[in-house]
Amino acid sequence: MEYILELKDISKTFPGVKALDHVQLQVRPGEVHALMGENGAGKSTLMKILMGIYKKDPGGEILFNGQPYDVSNPKEAIDTGVAMIHQELNPIYDMTVYENIFVGREIRKHGIVDKKAEIAEAQKLIDQCGLHVSPTNTLRGLTVAQCQLIEIIKAISVDAKVIIMDEPTAAITDREVEILFGHIRRLKEQGVAIIYISHRMDEIFSICDRVTVYRDGQYVGSGETKDLDEAQLIKMMVGREITDVFPKLEAQIGDVVFEAKHIVRADNKVKDVSISVRRGEILGIGGLVGAGRSELVEGIFGMHRISGGEIIVKGESVHVHSPKDIIQKGVALVTEDRKGTGLNLRGTINDNIAVVAINKLLEHGLYSKKKARNASEEYIDKLKIKTPSSDQIVGDLSGGNQQKVVIAKWLLSEPDVIIMDEPTRGIDVGAKRDIYLLIGSLVQQGKAVIMISSEIPELMGVCDRIAVMSEGVLSGEVQRKDFSQERIMALASAIEV
Ligand SMILES: Nc1ncnc2c1ncn2[C@@H]1O[C@H](COP(=O)(O)OP(=O)(O)OP(=O)(O)O)[C@@H](O)[C@H]1O
Ligand SMILES: [Mg+2]
Repeated sequence: MEYILELKDISKTFPGVKALDHVQLQVRPGEVHALMGENGAGKSTLMKILMGIYKKDPGGEILFNGQPYDVSNPKEAIDTGVAMIHQELNPIYDMTVYENIFVGREIRKHGIVDKKAEIAEAQKLIDQCGLHVSPTNTLRGLTVAQCQLIEIIKAISVDAKVIIMDEPTAAITDREVEILFGHIRRLKEQGVAIIYISHRMDEIFSICDRVTVYRDGQYVGSGETKDLDEAQLIKMMVGREITDVFPKLEAQIGDVVFEAKHIVRADNKVKDVSISVRRGEILGIGGLVGAGRSELVEGIFGMHRISGGEIIVKGESVHVHSPKDIIQKGVALVTEDRKGTGLNLRGTINDNIAVVAINKLLEHGLYSKKKARNASEEYIDKLKIKTPSSDQIVGDLSGGNQQKVVIAKWLLSEPDVIIMDEPTRGIDVGAKRDIYLLIGSLVQQGKAVIMISSEIPELMGVCDRIAVMSEGVLSGEVQRKDFSQERIMALASAIEV
């Protein structure tokens, strides 16, 4: 049999949105098949149909192993042989790591859940993955990256014929990506097919055999990755050529506008780190997962207690007890975890955009819905947020479009200093470029930007300077003229060069 999975003529309509319009996909056993397309192209929707989470519109057909495939929930999909790592994680935070791994497929002895066996098995899987967590930890204490790795462990430990990976690397860095790729290669050898969704081009070319591209819910084409290059693939996705993936606007670098000196976090995840940024400057922060980058900015922002250090904004020392204290001084933080702290998923785009910059949306002292709508529409336009209207519930937007709403909400408050934690995570190439240009225009206006990113090419492309962290300390700083991938990677793993 040539295909393990074959989808023909699949459509899906949501109110006001044709998410999929007669698309096709053919997956061979033992291949890694990339599914690509811009934010909102319909990738996750199709995968959710495969998992029985959404029902496709009438018509079309799905064949699995040559047989008609029709499942109505994820358990049926898994039992048939299709597993999925979701883009939007929904961990149950009070569950332990091992319970999470074995939920719905508990190991039993004489009919009773064999906790001991589950813990031992979970430990084995965790070790294989190079993860440093205990199986009996609850998920609450874990980082986004650790939760993501557990999700990966879970999907590859069920006996699936097809594994869907919807942006599995969005929250993890190079070292963990290598671990994941090791698993993928092993699965391939066993004849397992992987459907791989990612906006990171380098990954597509290093791990995928074939690629299928959708645009606006429609099938564009398929091909072998070895016959394609990055430019061709981008053109298939966005429908036009993009030459400079990392545009950098010239900006005048001025006075220091923000300083954090000798920051120590009460939980010791950050030990004596100092950073500063000037007006007109983009400072990058690089490092591996667990290096303490998010922990640093969350400490600065008053989301976690710091036990030492000083924060100076526009020359003035600021006592930060809660985020409000620093927001008032003109500092914004676009958080890494859009679900936990970034967005109200049940609210509309208008509601979400209004949250931070409410003072910009007043008319005669009262909140003006009209102003909020105008502001949303401005950013929907600027960031090309794909939505039927600004009244759309944010939870119903595609992953990348949710991320754009997070960015919009903070930009609207017009901060002097904007700290962004993995701002382009899950965002397609074209939209990333729009965001770099927007960041560029902010610094041209004399604002300062601090950007955490796990993508070194992105940091090198847009930053003026990169500070690198490793194990809670600053391991070095590199000026733009000295940027090199090797140097930054060496600092991230704290090797002397
Ligand atoms: N539950 C839903 N209700 C309404 N519209 C939805 C729902 N889920 C998805 N959509 C819409 O369907 C379209 C396709 O979304 P989908 O999440 O499949 O995109 P995607 O290709 O996965 O994008 P991304 O790269 O941003 O994750 C989008 O316009 C999205 O807003
Ligand atoms: Mg998606």
